[in-house]
Amino acid sequence: MSFKRTNITTALPYANGPVHIGHLAGVYVPADIYARYLRSKGEEVVFIGGSDEHGVPITIKARKEGVTPQDIVDRYHEIIKKSFEDFGISFDVYSRTTSKTHYKVSSDFFKTLYDKGEFIEQTSEQYYDEEAKQFLADRYIIGKCPHCSNERAYGDQCEQCGTSLNPTDLINPQSAISGSKPVMRQTKHWYLPLNNHEQWLREFILDNHKEWKTNVYGQCKSWLDMGLQPRAVSRDLDWGVPLPLPDAAGKVLYVWFDAPIGYISNTVELCEQAPEKFGDWKKWWKDPETRLVHFIGKDNIVFHCIVFPAMLKAEGSFILPDNVPANEFLNLEGDKISTSRNWAVWLHEYLEEFPEKQDVLRYVLTANAPETKDNDFTWKDFQARNNSELVAIYGNFINRTLVLTQKYFDGKVPQRYDMEDIDKNVLAQVAAGKAKIENLIDEFHFRDALREVMNLARIGNKYLADTEPWKLAKTDMNRVATILNVSLQISANLSIAFEPFLPFSSKRLRNMLNITSFSWTDFGKTDLIKTGDRIGNVQLLFEMIEDQAIDFQINKLQQTKQANTAVEQSIKPIKETVDFEDFQKIDIRVGKVLECTKVPKADKLLQFKIDDGMGGRTILSGIAQHYSEPEKLVGSQICFIANFAPRKIRGIESQGMILSADTPDGKLILLQPNNFIDEGSMIV
Ligand code: 2FM
Ligand code: ZN
Repeated sequence: MSFKRTNITTALPYANGPVHIGHLAGVYVPADIYARYLRSKGEEVVFIGGSDEHGVPITIKARKEGVTPQDIVDRYHEIIKKSFEDFGISFDVYSRTTSKTHYKVSSDFFKTLYDKGEFIEQTSEQYYDEEAKQFLADRYIIGKCPHCSNERAYGDQCEQCGTSLNPTDLINPQSAISGSKPVMRQTKHWYLPLNNHEQWLREFILDNHKEWKTNVYGQCKSWLDMGLQPRAVSRDLDWGVPLPLPDAAGKVLYVWFDAPIGYISNTVELCEQAPEKFGDWKKWWKDPETRLVHFIGKDNIVFHCIVFPAMLKAEGSFILPDNVPANEFLNLEGDKISTSRNWAVWLHEYLEEFPEKQDVLRYVLTANAPETKDNDFTWKDFQARNNSELVAIYGNFINRTLVLTQKYFDGKVPQRYDMEDIDKNVLAQVAAGKAKIENLIDEFHFRDALREVMNLARIGNKYLADTEPWKLAKTDMNRVATILNVSLQISANLSIAFEPFLPFSSKRLRNMLNITSFSWTDFGKTDLIKTGDRIGNVQLLFEMIEDQAIDFQINKLQQTKQANTAVEQSIKPIKETVDFEDFQKIDIRVGKVLECTKVPKADKLLQFKIDDGMGGRTILSGIAQHYSEPEKLVGSQICFIANFAPRKIRGIESQGMILSADTPDGKLILLQPNNFIDEGSMIV
């Protein structure tokens, strides 16, 4: 099958948080490489993105913050959109599923399927939260697991023993939204009978798309082998696209029904805005000569390979995906990236800490992309790849070429005299790289493709090291001219080959070479830079990243880990750092308990008479509930803050503060020296 054009879609991220390196590595950088590559080849391409703004988690977040779901998605849509722009993800459109167009396109889509009789209607009993006034998605019902007695199992799964559950399996179910006990209520929903689509899907995927990546093909096969079931496409919720039916008040399209239609809506929006460039949207979705490619993460495979194709087929006039190159997951320093645990490198934070270094991250995430298995991002690897690959190979080759051109030829591209074998060979190797790189990109092997491009830079670097033009300058300027001309041609080729991967530095390189643009078809040519032309100002293409910057990042993650461990174990997080001067202001002393009694009519207070080595003092302490026999403390030693401003509590003046430990299980325990220490000794 030959195609005339390509429609590239990227999973629409949920607009309930910013985007992180996992998003970039899994979906958006590979899709951007592909889009830039095809455009550079002069192919007709549309590159679609947008935010997924429906679904229950967004409503829960809004409820927690006391704002509307629209407020939440407005906030994150802007943040996400900006991050993608900042990283050069070259979408032709980045819209959102709360747009007017999307409401129309998705409800029309539903209506078409409804009118064609493609749905089945079914009434069932589901849990309802009377306080929150909403039906509860399985994830939002919590109760005791009937298998392992875990008190906080979810309505769809117990995370302790791994068993799949139905909400009705839970003992003592509770709503995760309000904490109230949910009740059963009848509700009607519309289902897409996937079982009716099983046969053609088996042929479509298992027979006709054997070329899909093994992880994608394998997941589809196991779903198909298990047998497909009808799937509800509606939900009882007040956030989403309302069901366009008269008897469906309070019901919206299920987020996974409307989100992939978002790809279509966003194409419609784009084509309405720029018809002269993109034509009619139907050409991108209904013409069999258009190739549809979905870039997604592995958790989205079933929706893009089975559910969405079934929706498109049921509608009847759409094309189906030609490929779904899903990636596996990227971990961070050995742990799963997690938004809720703040275990992530957020794109907006990265750019604040590494300004202008978009390409470094794009490089590392591609060189280490989770294409076939989960991979790990580490800051040490990030530093090593920057310093010993981008700086030491690519940057070094470009810098030497340009600096020598400035030095020996006053920035004018020198003439190429008779070439020796070494010159011809190096140019031939660069030209031969083109086909290899193309094959790899065409097959979605971006990681290997980038390695080949970097190899070309390596070849250039070695060429300069072997020919040593700086040594020839005194004896053979014609030879120096030839070597630098060849090196400049290689540099221009690198700016083309790296463009899909590292667009920012390719642009800087083009500026330095004083050329405005190249297309992929120029790749491999040996006369891209004309003799006599001037090169532009020379700057470093990449800079070293020092240990300090990396240590800062590692330290930041360690702090996150500590905070998470503390939360998990109910240990209070560490307070803000204080400097030595501040610490020194606190005067902590050792004292002996002379008397200890309960303060009448105060549940929590104990009154201490302390021998402080300086004539004695009275201190009140709120630990009565933890010491039922306070008189037993008499004679023992404690530690107290001696310069704490006196305070009157219940008419008694308290002249200090006694130190106790606040334990994770909620006890207060006095700090008492193990050995006898003179009263009045200062703790330093
Ligand atoms: O998993 C996710 O983040 C979903 N928001 C992806 C949706 S992809 C498409 F269907 F829009
Ligand atoms: Zn369990």
